[in-house]
Amino acid sequence: MKNNTRAIFNSRIGAILATAGSAVGLGNIWRFPYTLGENGGAAFLLIYILCVIILGLPVMLSEFYIGHKTHSNATGAFKLLAPKSNWSLIGYNGILATCFIFGFYSVIAGWTLEYFTHSMVGGFEGKSPLELQIYFNNFSSSIFRPLLWTSVFIFITHLIVVSGVKRGVEKAAKILMPLLFVILIMMSIQSLSLENASKGLLFLFKPDFSKITATVVLNAMGQAFFSLSVGICCLATFASYFDNQTNLQQSALQVTMIDTLVALLAGIIIFPAVFSFGIAPTTGPKLVFITIPQVLIQLPFGNIWAFIFFLLLALAALTSTISLLEVPTVYIQEEFHTSRRTASRIASLFIWVLGILCTLSFNVLADIKLFDLTFFELLDFATAKLMLPLGGLFICLFMNKHVKKEDLRAIMTNHGNTVFYFFNTFVFFVRWVAPILIILVFLNQFGLI
Ligand code: TRP
Repeated sequence: MKNNTRAIFNSRIGAILATAGSAVGLGNIWRFPYTLGENGGAAFLLIYILCVIILGLPVMLSEFYIGHKTHSNATGAFKLLAPKSNWSLIGYNGILATCFIFGFYSVIAGWTLEYFTHSMVGGFEGKSPLELQIYFNNFSSSIFRPLLWTSVFIFITHLIVVSGVKRGVEKAAKILMPLLFVILIMMSIQSLSLENASKGLLFLFKPDFSKITATVVLNAMGQAFFSLSVGICCLATFASYFDNQTNLQQSALQVTMIDTLVALLAGIIIFPAVFSFGIAPTTGPKLVFITIPQVLIQLPFGNIWAFIFFLLLALAALTSTISLLEVPTVYIQEEFHTSRRTASRIASLFIWVLGILCTLSFNVLADIKLFDLTFFELLDFATAKLMLPLGGLFICLFMNKHVKKEDLRAIMTNHGNTVFYFFNTFVFFVRWVAPILIILVFLNQFGLI
């Protein structure tokens, strides 16, 4: 089933970093803190971490199997593994979901560009908390600049994806990840030294179990899938580029740990600041954008730190959007036999239309709602709370029905080249625990149990 013309990541560390680059992004630094804030704090964190370990990790390993075995795109993989069956619908769900996610993600990625350029010209210098809020509100309610930044972001992603996986993704991730870590640790130290830091830490780490509702559990599950980039064959597509030296189990564990650590660091930065500056934890999507500049400008040379932080955040978002665009691109390229450039153009144009609608839903289209959600909120809801967990569920069911244990072991260990600890536990979780739990969460959410 090998197709040798496909790109292969250069090195083992390259595979890990590229996958981590996909996982670590706005999901950790933007979406995680505000979702945690809206869902009651520490209790959410607890369920989130359980979802990462019990659901996210098994689905990630399954995606690695699917991609690594077939070396094919999201639908092609299922056509090879289960010919003439409907399982390739998992792939179609994935392709659509990656476009939807990129659509709303590009808006926030655009915000990072606005903040990055604003700090470059020293714009945050000496601003009070109120002024920073006003600045955000003015920006997000204006029409032209958000549209410009959304478009720029999609265009840059397109250019990198056209230039190929190896050169683009691997290089960017190699330089970026360590730098991001350093600045996050520095910022958390600064945030912990704020006056009401302990209140923020209590909110983040001391669970109030009465806050746990069906919706909180669904939100935590959605956030876990979103943050780990699992459920929609994005990592399966990446795993199709891994070479045979790649240790799949180790990569999955490391990526999961890095991803969770970055989310935790983001929480440790945001919540002490939120409580110190009197910002409501339930502020929603703009939470990070009004909190972080306040932490940064208190540091000596605050503007320079803001500049570095928003640059890194934009780049972290970029390594995620690259992985998102890769899915529809390689699907179009392989299934319709087009060039990579044409494939990426078609996908990017579709995503651009979605991106424009999502950007405008913060101003001109703010009142146009479906199920009481703006277009932006609708795409976020449809992906994180439906398409990702359902994709994950069907991937598990597929593993249960179609994949022989011995074949799974052979692929996961590269035919005995690497060791896979707790293999039987993994199989049991993928086949039974994860799918049953996902079904229970959905039944619970819809009030059926
Ligand atoms: N995980 C990324 C983040 O946290 C976003 C992302 C990239 C994603 N690829 C994905 C989410 C695939 C779901 C599926 O920012």
